[in-house]
Amino acid sequence: MTSSEIRTRFLRFFDKRGHTVIPSASLVTSDEKGITNPTLFNTAGMQPLIPYLLGKPYEKDGKVITRLVDSQKCLRTTDLDDVGDKRHATFFEMLGNWSLGDYFKREAIEWSFEFLTSQTEGLGLDPHKLYVTVFEGDLNAPRDDEASGIWREIFKKNNIDCGGDTSKGEKGRIFFMPAKNNWWEAGDNGPCGPDSEMFFDAIDRFKGGLISLEDYIDAEDKSDLVEVWNDVFMQYEKKDGKVVGKLPKPSVDTGAGLERLAMTMQGVDNIYDTDLLKPVMDLMSDDSLTVKNKRIIADHLRASAFLITDGVTPSNTDRGYILRRLIRRAIVNTSDKKFDKSGTIAVVDALISTYKDAYPDLEAKKDLVVETITTEAVKFEKTINDAIHEFNKLINEQDAHQLTANIAFILFTSFGLPLEITLELATIKKPIAVEDNISEKFTKLMSEHQALSRAGAEQKFKGGLADANDPMVVRYHTATHLLHQALHDVLGEEIGNQKGSNITADRLRFDFTGIKLTEEQKKRVEDIVNDKIAAALPVNKIVMPLSEAEKTGARHFFGEKYSDNVSIYFIGKASNPPAVEDLATAYSKEFCGGPHVSNTKELSGPEGKWRFKIQKEEAVAQGVRRIKAVLA
Ligand code: ALA
Repeated sequence: MTSSEIRTRFLRFFDKRGHTVIPSASLVTSDEKGITNPTLFNTAGMQPLIPYLLGKPYEKDGKVITRLVDSQKCLRTTDLDDVGDKRHATFFEMLGNWSLGDYFKREAIEWSFEFLTSQTEGLGLDPHKLYVTVFEGDLNAPRDDEASGIWREIFKKNNIDCGGDTSKGEKGRIFFMPAKNNWWEAGDNGPCGPDSEMFFDAIDRFKGGLISLEDYIDAEDKSDLVEVWNDVFMQYEKKDGKVVGKLPKPSVDTGAGLERLAMTMQGVDNIYDTDLLKPVMDLMSDDSLTVKNKRIIADHLRASAFLITDGVTPSNTDRGYILRRLIRRAIVNTSDKKFDKSGTIAVVDALISTYKDAYPDLEAKKDLVVETITTEAVKFEKTINDAIHEFNKLINEQDAHQLTANIAFILFTSFGLPLEITLELATIKKPIAVEDNISEKFTKLMSEHQALSRAGAEQKFKGGLADANDPMVVRYHTATHLLHQALHDVLGEEIGNQKGSNITADRLRFDFTGIKLTEEQKKRVEDIVNDKIAAALPVNKIVMPLSEAEKTGARHFFGEKYSDNVSIYFIGKASNPPAVEDLATAYSKEFCGGPHVSNTKELSGPEGKWRFKIQKEEAVAQGVRRIKAVLA
């Protein structure tokens, strides 16, 4: 079954069951409609619908509707390094049916089962190969026996043995899992609830039989079981990471990844062999490219084409930076690191023929897409040339007789030049010996660097993505930490929590929870920040395992995924080298990837005359305020 058929069947199935088909929202999240969106792009189908899940009536043609169905374009860049394996992609489509205070668990689960298994109206998957999970319960909400009971009834009605209670060690097909697996929320605030996930045994590992919890966990881990659908039962509301009550009307948010469904239906073991990406993959006949190279190119160009169609242009900040990074990574993965305009046109044409019915905009904006990618690529070639120049300089300056991992690492951090290109430079452009085990050493430097930058990258993903090394940007970054703490000093711990941050060389922008500040409060916040600048406090960083870091009381985002090692930037007296004890007396401490100034006095500018000044304090959403501030 083609992807297009899957999409059409899904929309038609729910249309027949009283749902209104709505078009995909843009990839770009909307800030205008009072939606508190923590991300730059829609990363799940529910994101554009948050206000409606929270109770705002959804109106169409003057009528309030409570059942919707769509296929939403999504973009996730948190797993960028995994793109190129079998399952990860940045761009993907999520099919979803929605109950806005209308039906709840029973209908949602019954329809999921019916769509997955019906030969005539759905996908016709073998129900014996389905395994499902439900929420096991925790302090926020009880175990979801209602959902498991409904699943049991459905399996029974279809003459499928679903075995015993898998939580008691018996074999079965319904598994109780913790919040990490079976709880859904889009951030610290908003609608949330337990979910039920459906998995399909595409490789027929279990021959349709009952399995133990250990089997299930192992198969999920190895991706032998493919998650094909998630039904979220939106029952609760969270504020600042805690469930504060039930929603007035429980709703349903479901998500089925089109790529994964296509993979399952087309009998292939990776998304790149589905009809969504194969036409692009087939264009790349160059033998010197690895499968991973090809997949990265296909994924990144597809994502770029959709981003450009949705109005994003390459830049050094926010969404534009993500687009720039995707285009550059695509080029880096080509064999000669050269951009090929006719190749790009061919890719865009292939995408258009795959997507033109569902997303006609792509065809309408073809010229813009090609032009944007071309211009960006030409700029990147210049960057590569600059990197070559720097490469020569470093080799001469350091009087190096060989290319070291350190040099390669500098080229990577300053120009984004991957090791493989640097090695090519060392062998072709400027023949020079290469340090022994350079790959291992480089990888080690990289993993240290990644541990540091991951927290930073995630913060950036929340908003600010200016050129991180610009001295003004660095100053504003440190000023943001001071502001964050000063807000807590003035407002208390309950409010003043960071909701977003965006920094350019001209100003900082900081979103936080709270209500309108009085003039007096604003003045106090400014005074505190200026005092800390005048106090010339050192800024230091300390790296430690996540579990320890969480105990230090350093500020971070609840619900955010941090890597195993995180860096904490702290402002205040430090030992040499900085030690964990210093954190106890630090004025500000936050999980952060940096970079920061080394002393707060740098915030007062080259002549020590600048002052921290709040220019604007305004509402951006209910309960969320935004401060724009400058150092001038
Ligand atoms: N919002 C749910 C998800 O993304 C359906 O999995």
